Amino acid sequence: MKIFSGIQPTGKKHLGNYIGAIRQYVEGQDEGDPAIYCIVDLHAITVPWDPAVLRSNVHDTTAILLAAGLDPERCILFRQSDVREHTELTWLLTALTAHGDLNRMHQFKDKSAKQRELVSAGLFLYPVLQAADVLAYKADTVPVGEDQRQHVELMREIARRFNERFGPVMVEPEHRIPEVGARIMDLQQPSNKMATTGGSEQGTVYVLDEPAAITKKVRSAVTDSGTEVTRSGEGKEGIANLIEILSVARGSEMDSIEAEFEGSGYGDFKGAVAEAVVDYLAPVRERYAELRPDEAALEQALAAGAEKARAIAAETLAEVRPAMGTGPA
Ligand code: AMP
Ligand code: TRP
Repeated sequence: MKIFSGIQPTGKKHLGNYIGAIRQYVEGQDEGDPAIYCIVDLHAITVPWDPAVLRSNVHDTTAILLAAGLDPERCILFRQSDVREHTELTWLLTALTAHGDLNRMHQFKDKSAKQRELVSAGLFLYPVLQAADVLAYKADTVPVGEDQRQHVELMREIARRFNERFGPVMVEPEHRIPEVGARIMDLQQPSNKMATTGGSEQGTVYVLDEPAAITKKVRSAVTDSGTEVTRSGEGKEGIANLIEILSVARGSEMDSIEAEFEGSGYGDFKGAVAEAVVDYLAPVRERYAELRPDEAALEQALAAGAEKARAIAAETLAEVRPAMGTGPA
């Protein structure tokens, strides 16, 4: 199985990213043949950005992923802009992408509505670059959180259209969305997903938060006026979210958590969630502190990853160009 996923460069990766995506990346390393993970700096420039901050954010994300357990010996970890095939394939795939489909993308609608400066053409083409990311490697499995479902559907459509028109070059990838934790909610606004932008600061637990900050955020999570630790019933979004978080952090079933906290009230329950999340993230924060200062080592890891990635993507492009009639036969 070929696994591919991409992640935006930011130092502010949150518990939703960790549970929905990063956790799956680490698990996928030994299954993937290969498992390829890309830090998508070209996607990051579809909204306003600062060049120096972007470069530093790539290092932050690299260090977070390594700290979480990605091992450059067992996976391919690289920076998107280091492999030029992504941009070339993006343009080629725009020829097979319906303008109307791009117009229907939820993420484009949300992000363009929020944009104050410039709604760039890049923001509109974002899903085509994402399709190129995956199709360049003929990946069949794409581990992501729930919010990426529509983007994966679109890349399947693009792959199908390519193959119908030019012959069977592309692989139609399938998403892999985790059963528990695909959509972690903001602790203060449990009807909204936890997010880097647009979420509440108090309701967002960052992977690099200190234990005291995590405890405070979890303890002040918005719940409901009831007393039962259960996922079912009206207005239970806040408690259900905490049950889901605890289930992943501890590696236990949601049903057994409900049974354990039957009759114990929200205070004890939140205390247990806080403790479990602190224990879950502490090793990552500690390893991050060791890895992040050595930027030369991070760059070296990315460069080695890019070399391996390029070898695969170049083969695909060598099939795509003649099939589409660009360049010599
Ligand atoms: P991003 O930081 O936007 O590149 O997202 C990285 C990954 O995290 C993607 O696979 C998203 O689907 C996933 N993700 C983002 N927010 C959440 C959330 N609140 N719950 C679960 N997964 C999420
Ligand atoms: N758009 C994804 C996100 O915001 C990141 C991404 C870029 C990605 N390229 C990808 C995810 C390819 C999966 C596969 O999270």
